[in-house]
Amino acid sequence: MGQSIKIGLMGLGTVGNAFVRALSRFQSDGHSACENAMEIKKILVRHPDRHLDYDSRLTTDARDIIDDPEVAVVVELMGGMEPARSLMLAALKRGKAVVTANKEVMAHAGLEIWEASRKSGAGVYFEASVGAGIPVIQGIRRGLAGNQIHSITGVVNGTTNYILSRMTQDGLEFSTALREAQREGYAEVDPTDDIAGYDARRKIAILATVGFATWVSPDDVQVDGIAGITQDDIAYGLSEGWVLKLIATAHRQQDTMKISVRPTFLPQNHPIAQVMGAYNAIWVEADPVGNVMYYGLGAGGYPTASAILSDVLQAVRDLMGQHHEFWPVVDRHLKLDGSENSRVMSYWRLEVLDRPGTLAQVAVTLAKHGLSLRSVHQKPLSGGRALLFLVHHECAEHLWRMARTSVAQLSVVEHVGIPVSIWQSEEESRER
Ligand SMILES: NC(=O)c1ccc[n+]([C@@H]2O[C@H](COP(=O)([O-])OP(=O)(O)OC[C@H]3O[C@@H](n4cnc5c(N)ncnc54)[C@H](OP(=O)(O)O)[C@@H]3O)[C@@H](O)[C@H]2O)c1
Repeated sequence: MGQSIKIGLMGLGTVGNAFVRALSRFQSDGHSACENAMEIKKILVRHPDRHLDYDSRLTTDARDIIDDPEVAVVVELMGGMEPARSLMLAALKRGKAVVTANKEVMAHAGLEIWEASRKSGAGVYFEASVGAGIPVIQGIRRGLAGNQIHSITGVVNGTTNYILSRMTQDGLEFSTALREAQREGYAEVDPTDDIAGYDARRKIAILATVGFATWVSPDDVQVDGIAGITQDDIAYGLSEGWVLKLIATAHRQQDTMKISVRPTFLPQNHPIAQVMGAYNAIWVEADPVGNVMYYGLGAGGYPTASAILSDVLQAVRDLMGQHHEFWPVVDRHLKLDGSENSRVMSYWRLEVLDRPGTLAQVAVTLAKHGLSLRSVHQKPLSGGRALLFLVHHECAEHLWRMARTSVAQLSVVEHVGIPVSIWQSEEESRER
């Protein structure tokens, strides 16, 4: 066996710990000589006193990894934008391959990272940044090479899917489901990043960049989160045969694309509607393959370590073979289809005064903005109020936004719930 490949690990939290264990298990299983010859030489942490088992390898100084000529692969598992981004760039500059689970850096600074990789000839591997252990990035890049990708749609945030699943399957209210998710470790103490859809926005930006071979920034993604969804919304959807999910979706049509993260009602029989709990799924519509779904646990130490380990093995093989396939495959420049061209069909919940003429006022206000109603259901509430569940026909998104503002200003309307998009298949979208 030749000299072992030295790894510098940055971060020893949930994923870092699982990676160390998974690597050790993998090595002791006795794989090929090349794959056996790996050694974690240094581990960067902030608080060495919390990781006494790893004593001799711990460091709090990133230069012990970056400046060590023996370290050939840097595994970045710290998270957050800085110092992770700068350290990844520094590692690449010194010719070290970088493996990361960091969606923040890859979604916001991917171009810069890839440019550094191309310049130095060292590879970048980021399978774990979307869907934890689900091999979706290489699944699209390699598995669907040669396909024309029409759309990528997914449940890519485990926290929101856990909350919505508990609301759907067990009738919990949002706040109860959120508290439970926090207790079970599925949601952070400050859950904003997940609930507001920002985490899903980064992931769909990465997937769209990979799938459409064009750079997509998280800022290009229109986002609505799930805060404000109630049991009334969930129950209404179920009565119509729909399941509510936070859907991240990217559609491409010729040289334009449309990307969003939105609460969405899907038909109960859609495969993504069946994805429950902390699971993720990504559904790809492409030609010639048709439809493909990637499914698995979208979070957790070991699922994520699985993707890290596969990337490390690939990095080692690339180093041994002295051959890299460089990212990005960004060779197209698709235009964003802005909200003025975008069309939506959605559901709204209104809390209104239950008196003659209320529905007429709402309908007239919608009509002024060119929206027509597809269906209306009413649920009486106490105190002379009622809930109206509206679904409007498809309309231009900018009109829809104006109509919503006008309806909210009506004196008979006390509250407008958050809108929920109604799922339309790729075929339905193309027919428009
Ligand atoms: N957890 C998951 O299920 C999951 C799933 C997919 C992707 N990811 C991604 O994986 C990465 C790691 O996540 P995690 O859950 O393992 O995080 P974590 O448990 O918070 O661990 C972070 C580790 O990085 C170290 N660290 C953070 N900032 C540092 C700094 N400035 N200098 C030195 N060390 C620093 C911490 O050191 P101390 O221990 O000394 O504080 C800790 O060991 C993130 O990018 C995350 O988005 C996580």
